[in-house]
Amino acid sequence: MSPASPAPPAGRRALVTGITGQDGSYLAEFLLDRGYEVHGVIRRASTFNTDRIEHLYRDPHEPDARLRLHYGDLTDSSGLRVLLERVQPDEVYNLGAQSHVRVSFDQPEYTADVVALGALRLLEALRDYQARTGREVRFYQAGSSEMFGNAAPPQSEATPFRPRSPYGVAKVYAHLQTVNYREAYGLFAANGILFNHESERRHETFVTRKITRAATRIALGLQTTLYLGNLDARRDWGHAQDYVEAMWLILQHPQPDDFVIATGESRSVREFLDAAFGLLGLDWRGHVVVDPRYFRPAEIDRLEGDASRARAILGWRPRVTFDELVRRMVAHDMELARAERTLRDGGHAVGRRGPARE
Ligand code: NAP
Ligand code: GDD
Repeated sequence: MSPASPAPPAGRRALVTGITGQDGSYLAEFLLDRGYEVHGVIRRASTFNTDRIEHLYRDPHEPDARLRLHYGDLTDSSGLRVLLERVQPDEVYNLGAQSHVRVSFDQPEYTADVVALGALRLLEALRDYQARTGREVRFYQAGSSEMFGNAAPPQSEATPFRPRSPYGVAKVYAHLQTVNYREAYGLFAANGILFNHESERRHETFVTRKITRAATRIALGLQTTLYLGNLDARRDWGHAQDYVEAMWLILQHPQPDDFVIATGESRSVREFLDAAFGLLGLDWRGHVVVDPRYFRPAEIDRLEGDASRARAILGWRPRVTFDELVRRMVAHDMELARAERTLRDGGHAVGRRGPARE
């Protein structure tokens, strides 16, 4: 915990949308560790989508089970209202999203529905719930550095939003509605503006994990080529575990406010390739092929956050360095590649989900 972290509140209830995602899984761990009862919203799917939280789940019949899952969807207002009534949370973390920037160009309307209107639906449900019950519910909105677009770095809370993707535009809408509900109705509604954060649990269609999965498979002879898009883009990459702590700190602050969360260091995709392949003694130049299908209609050249306000006010700072992030992801994916190699060498068919996309 950061030096300035407040004492963990006992017996509080949190409702988390997007609990099956990268951040949702780390946030659930973090909150359970601090004594919260955690209620997660999951989507009904024909395949299992709870892999990332399987290790946290206990049979709800067990008296000390503190993680509960509920079906719900950010496109379904009535379901969200019922959930608030049923769970009666102290804190709501809105992490659910169609979170892939490239995909948002293919599905702009759906992305706006989930990301922009989804946040509005939750805020409206909260406003109504709070007015009727008189209970204060603290609301966290998962904002993104993607909202800054090509505004000049370093980007801080004072930087204007200039989004360059349907996802970024939808996140700006959700951000502004969160501010609006705070000002118009006095809700405790706060925005985190988080820069890219990665982990061993990152989906394989984001560039960092796409690279660490491919580099480790190449090292073990399971793959030869990695197709990527723009190698010059620069991102401010941290570790997701550090960033979920920031979400919690934002809701423990006495006043609702908006905070940039970032490492302050920007690296290019090339630099990530250098680091990941370098750990394996490989030169990526012999394996990476640029495929324009991974280019975006509009790109953000450089994201580099200034989180000095979060540091001064919340006492938050990232612990995992860039090198440590890459090392952890490579070590994790090397284990997966080794298991795949062993199965193949034993003559077993290995069901991989096909080549990484996007
Ligand atoms: P992620 O791994 O893609 O997880 C997204 C979550 O949202 C999943 O649990 C997903 O459920 C859920 N979801 C998707 N559509 C939904 C819907 N219609 N209704 C309810 N839930 C839905 O994303 P993440 O990296 O954990 O990011 C968490 C949040 O932070 C997102 O809002 C993202 O936009 C934002 N953010 C992320 C970063 C980053 O670098 N990771 C940076 C800034 C902001 P399924 O598992 O069923 O698909
Ligand atoms: N995904 C992907 N796949 N990106 C690639 C590839 C590729 O094959 N090749 C190059 N890139 C470049 C992208 O063009 C982009 O400039 C950069 O790598 C990072 O792409 P992603 O990892 O997809 O992340 P993102 O920055 O677009 O979005 C992530 O961070 C946002 C915060 O800034 C997501 O987590 C968003 O949900 C989040 O809000």
